[in-house]
Amino acid sequence: MSQPAHFPELKAIPAELKSALSSEIIALGFVVVENSDPLEKSDAKTEKEFKLVGSTLLLKSIAETFGIDLLDELKFFTPTGKAGESFELPISAPDTKTERLMLVGLGDQSIAALRAAGATVGRKVKGKAQSISTFCATSDANATAHAISATMGAYIWNLKSGPKPLKPTIYLSISTLALKRTLAIAAAVWRARDLVHTPANIKTPAWMAANAKTVAKERNISIKVIAGKELAPFGGLVAVGNSSRKSPPRFIEITYAPKGSSNWPHVVLVGKGITFDTGGYSMKRPYDMMMAMKTDMAGAAAVLSVVSALPELAPRVRVTALLMCAENAVSGTAQRPSDVITHFGGTTTEVLNTDAEGRLVLADGLAYANLKLKPDYLIDVATLTGSATLGLGRQYAAMYSRDDKLAAKLHELGNESGDRVWRMPLINDYIDSLESDIADINNTADKGDYNAGSVTAALFLEKFVGDRKWVHFDIAGTGRSEVDAGENPKGGTGFGVRLLTTWISSL
Ligand code: BES
Ligand code: MN
Ligand code: ZN
Repeated sequence: MSQPAHFPELKAIPAELKSALSSEIIALGFVVVENSDPLEKSDAKTEKEFKLVGSTLLLKSIAETFGIDLLDELKFFTPTGKAGESFELPISAPDTKTERLMLVGLGDQSIAALRAAGATVGRKVKGKAQSISTFCATSDANATAHAISATMGAYIWNLKSGPKPLKPTIYLSISTLALKRTLAIAAAVWRARDLVHTPANIKTPAWMAANAKTVAKERNISIKVIAGKELAPFGGLVAVGNSSRKSPPRFIEITYAPKGSSNWPHVVLVGKGITFDTGGYSMKRPYDMMMAMKTDMAGAAAVLSVVSALPELAPRVRVTALLMCAENAVSGTAQRPSDVITHFGGTTTEVLNTDAEGRLVLADGLAYANLKLKPDYLIDVATLTGSATLGLGRQYAAMYSRDDKLAAKLHELGNESGDRVWRMPLINDYIDSLESDIADINNTADKGDYNAGSVTAALFLEKFVGDRKWVHFDIAGTGRSEVDAGENPKGGTGFGVRLLTTWISSL
């Protein structure tokens, strides 16, 4: 299987010294231990105590081989024990390649802490031809999360003309099955990030379609792309996308349905694929707001990447991804505020604000899924509203659903996978804010003064989902990171890939 460019080499190794000595860096985890002796506790000056995590045999042989008292050395750094903090020791011994030991804080050793530690490990070798062995995680579930985060931390992307970034090697103390899962999911996160980072002059809707075709061919999954006159039934996609003559819209349908899958549950994922969002005539102001808008297709990138991972993960679930790709430009063919458009299935929308374009393209995708594909689950992923970021910041995506059980499950898997989501309410009282005098619905909340942009956007989408089990993820905050830190680079995060692959595998 082909990996994105510069994707690290990942290898499974046993937790023993022999296998670690072929790497330049060895990462070991440590934790702060509470002093449980009541007599010592009464002493105000009790020092913090630390404990190294992992196989006693491995720890012992490292100490012996390199003639080093790890705990003593660690104390010298006055660590806090916080997950992801790290300290380095130069070490050497005859006939070994290893030259550094990295001691990594594991916090409370929760899965979230193991992810933070993983990001630190990956960042250490990012863009370098170096190798690191990590022994931070002890259970297989933790090891998978740790390994995926390590691979995420090593992410690098640029279009510089100089030498290309180098490929690191990450040795993981993990089962071969867990390694396979890690490879599939981490490569999918990289793929999504690559798509998000690509600038809009390259990443036209046609380019997105070509990319999806490559994925489909590689993975032996089926694909259908609709362009030009045949797009007519998709009124929202056409109205938004015809604003750009140079980069006209594409509807992309990619389906994972192996032989014998006809009676498996069917999931349809709809992704917002706005390759650049100027706002159209309702232009984004201040213009700084426009700078990040090449990332407005992060939903489409996520759902495509999820499907790309399925042949390896092999869930007994049929999955169709619909990528609603269009550029929202300003031109003589752009839509006007006050236009009325007809979506797939016939619902009409009065376009009050051309910057609320994501919901227009999603409406066609959701209606197509509901009416034509009749899925058991209908999920959309979209960088839909600035309000979602105002409400929840950049660590949690906003989740909307009428289905309590499904929402609870996705919330739980969000914490487990690292793509955290918070359920928001579909407030019926706000539905009337979308009433239009001349069409079935307005594309923005014009009436009432509810100030709940992410909620009213979700209520707009709900009009197109029929009676399906539907979930909407507003990833405007989580799809892009403003800082290069932890698991995320500055730019596209690949949010949604871990959550959706984990959820689909659980069905
Ligand atoms: N793509 C934007 C939402 C967005 C904003 C994503 C900032 C990421 C960062 C979306 O198309 C948009 O413009 N939404 C408007 C809706 C409004 C006009 C009702 C918004 O949130 O301001
Ligand atoms: Mn917009
Ligand atoms: Zn947008």
